[in-house]
Amino acid sequence: MKLSLTRRYMFPASHRLFRSDWSEEVNRRIFGKCANPHGHGHNYAVEITVTGAVDPATGMIVNLAELDAFVQARVLDEFDHANLNEQVPEFRDCIPTTENLCRVIFERLRGLERGRIERVRIEETAKNSFEYVAERAPARESAPYEFQEEHT
Ligand code: NI
Repeated sequence: MKLSLTRRYMFPASHRLFRSDWSEEVNRRIFGKCANPHGHGHNYAVEITVTGAVDPATGMIVNLAELDAFVQARVLDEFDHANLNEQVPEFRDCIPTTENLCRVIFERLRGLERGRIERVRIEETAKNSFEYVAERAPARESAPYEFQEEHT
């Protein structure tokens, strides 16, 4: 059995899609209006899916208040109302497409205490959505079984 929960967060931010090592013309051809020098904004909707064992004490995979605080500290504090190109360090040398935004958010959410981030899905516009799905965890080698002579 596999259980998951998905929580949705919204934040507005601006970005510009361009490469400084390409000419204006090439940028324009590849990225179209998204290469406009002054950028443009989106209201991003980010869905975070967490899987894991249900804590028998609480009946929850992860406490939503804890998840909210974690996402706030790791992502929203910096991304909300930001210019992604200029204010988020990961995008200094990386184009802030929503594909890359999914990956960066996924990476920032590593280390959640309970549960495992399984998927980051972002709606950029009413027409576009993107998602990053975690690689399967490598199978653990089973620990060698040790016989014990005596029970204690
Ligand atoms: Ni855009």
